[in-house]
Amino acid sequence: MAGTLTILGLESSCDDTAAAVLRHAPGTAPVILSSVVEGQAALHTDYGGVVPEIAARAHTEKLDHCVEAALAEAGLALRDVDAIAVTAGPGLIGGVLSGVMCAKGLAAATGKPLVGVNHLAGHALTPRLLGEAPFPYLMLLVSGGHCQILLVRGAEEFTRLGGTIDDAPGEAFDKVARLLGLPQPGGPAVEREAQAGDPTRYRLPRPLLDRPGCDMSFSGLKTAVLRARDKIVAEHGGLPRQARADLCAAFQEAVADVLAEKTRRALDDYLALSPEAPMIAVAGGVAANGTIRAALQSVAEARGVAFTAPPLALCTDNAAMIAWAGLELFRAGRRDTMTLAARPRWPLDVASGGMLGSGKKGAKA
Ligand code: KG4
Ligand code: ZN
Repeated sequence: MAGTLTILGLESSCDDTAAAVLRHAPGTAPVILSSVVEGQAALHTDYGGVVPEIAARAHTEKLDHCVEAALAEAGLALRDVDAIAVTAGPGLIGGVLSGVMCAKGLAAATGKPLVGVNHLAGHALTPRLLGEAPFPYLMLLVSGGHCQILLVRGAEEFTRLGGTIDDAPGEAFDKVARLLGLPQPGGPAVEREAQAGDPTRYRLPRPLLDRPGCDMSFSGLKTAVLRARDKIVAEHGGLPRQARADLCAAFQEAVADVLAEKTRRALDDYLALSPEAPMIAVAGGVAANGTIRAALQSVAEARGVAFTAPPLALCTDNAAMIAWAGLELFRAGRRDTMTLAARPRWPLDVASGGMLGSGKKGAKA
């Protein structure tokens, strides 16, 4: 069909190496022909976090293999793709460089056009990859490295309405899990534990809710969990199972309350634009959390706004979202050259600049 595009996407900005092939014909839903993600969790477990140098080396080793696997799964060869899209930032510089160099090599060898993509734009445009999001929509991007509320007006038009001034929510889940002796990644472990917990037994703060605006803070919440844990341990000589579950439930509910309230505030700015089909979307690993999803869904429902949360494989880091963002840019005429730079920091909303303290876990934005 005229205008059909097939894009190869590469992603290597944190600790997942990924390649995907995506096809889109105008007027139809995009088709993910393949999406390969090779994680590196095992390489980093002994260190309690992602080690940038180890991550960069692993990306270099895995990228070729991921590209081959993605093309094979799609039943295509490199000559069949129209362009190569690659994450050019923000992220761990060694990882981003590995991807950019690999994409440049493929582009130079085949003569295919190269498109550098902002990783955050990949997340923020994911609802359109699912074929259900006309601009503008409201996007809550919440993961281990990101936390932003964005007004998405176009493939390159983002307005940041708020974000964290310290930790990202996923980072807070991971730290709380560590404090309570739960395994990593902390989010799923805390959520599992919270199922048996009473969220009202321990009262935790809702940081920054007393201040106007949509900025958030999660670092104090983590410290509050630490204090509560120490008090329980001092009283009981250890951390009883039920107390741990109650603390997890209290923490999870506090995060959900903050995200819901700040999203509710952002909704006013969004609705002032009179969008034709108003929608709130969420993306990032933390979007997997049932309590958080439910809280956001009620915010949307209360105002008659649609709510969408992509399937988990498209919430966490993947290359299909990079291929899609690259496709939108390519269609709009974007072509990068061999001077394409790898950028450790690259705010989506240039006018608002970077957030104080953002990027603690791997220089995300
Ligand atoms: O998007 P992602 O895979 O990677 C980046 O950080 O870019 O997100 C991973 C984060 C981790 O911090 C993990 O603990 C959190 O998402 N996470 C969750 C859940 N599943 C993953 N947080 C809360 N509840 C979950 N069910
Ligand atoms: Zn990400």
